Amino acid sequence: QLGNRLCRYKNYNFLSSYTTAEYIDSLQSFEIRDSDVFLVSYPKSGTIWAQQIITSIYELDGHVNEYFINSQKMPWLEYTGGEYTRRPSPRLFTSHLPQVLMPPGLMDKKGKIVYLMRNPKDNMVSYYHFSNSFADLETPQTSSWFDHVREWYSNRDQYNILFLTYEEMILDLKGSVKKICNFLGKDLTEAAISQVVEKAKFENMKNDSKANYEHLPPEQFSGKFLRKGQIGDWKNTLTVAQSERVDQVLWEKLGDLPLRFIWE
Ligand code: PPS
Repeated sequence: QLGNRLCRYKNYNFLSSYTTAEYIDSLQSFEIRDSDVFLVSYPKSGTIWAQQIITSIYELDGHVNEYFINSQKMPWLEYTGGEYTRRPSPRLFTSHLPQVLMPPGLMDKKGKIVYLMRNPKDNMVSYYHFSNSFADLETPQTSSWFDHVREWYSNRDQYNILFLTYEEMILDLKGSVKKICNFLGKDLTEAAISQVVEKAKFENMKNDSKANYEHLPPEQFSGKFLRKGQIGDWKNTLTVAQSERVDQVLWEKLGDLPLRFIWE
């Protein structure tokens, strides 16, 4: 039974305050441009972090984006109201959509996708805290990290896609920024890369009102998007049995794919 805060499209739940089933359906004919860039992730994988990095790269490369905050500069494709067909190129988008709901035009290798993943234990703990502070979110029942990662990864040959992990961004932020620049064909100077890195550091981003999502009204969201920002917080939350259960499901659902995660 869905509450009125959620709407459903093909077994997936969406927030009614942000989108409609008709709009999600319309994305099947959304026209992709060669210069489009999509950041795709399961929620709580470090999305707004990579959003800060990608928007900074484009700005330091001289692209003018008339929008002010990151959620407008690089909006969620699945949310209505963006009038995206009228935006000048290059358009930057963010999305949590599963692979089947993304515009099929991307499969012609038009446009680029950065797919961000985080180890499922930290991802789950981060999502748990987020759901507790986000008024519209109900306990997820159908949404699966495992399916999201599996579908995107196993269809990777159809896309122009870079897989990146939250953990590699934590362990080597500069290296990750360079990797993203390479993929996007942006040849930034060392000084510009250092600027991107500075802006993406946890403490700096936490204090950056364009990037920290503190513009959301407190009655909608009462927590912090930048909460802990670490690898391994799951150890403070999951019991041994819960952790083993994740290991088991991970093995069952993704064990055949060459994906390895960093846990601490
Ligand atoms: S959302 O709602 O899907 O957009 O959330 P998302 O941005 O994917 O995930 C939020 C988690 O990312 C962490 N984060 C960062 N970690 C390190 N450095 C930086 N700069 C950074 N920015 C965001 C954020 O703290 C959330 O993780 P947790 O574990 O909850 O702290």
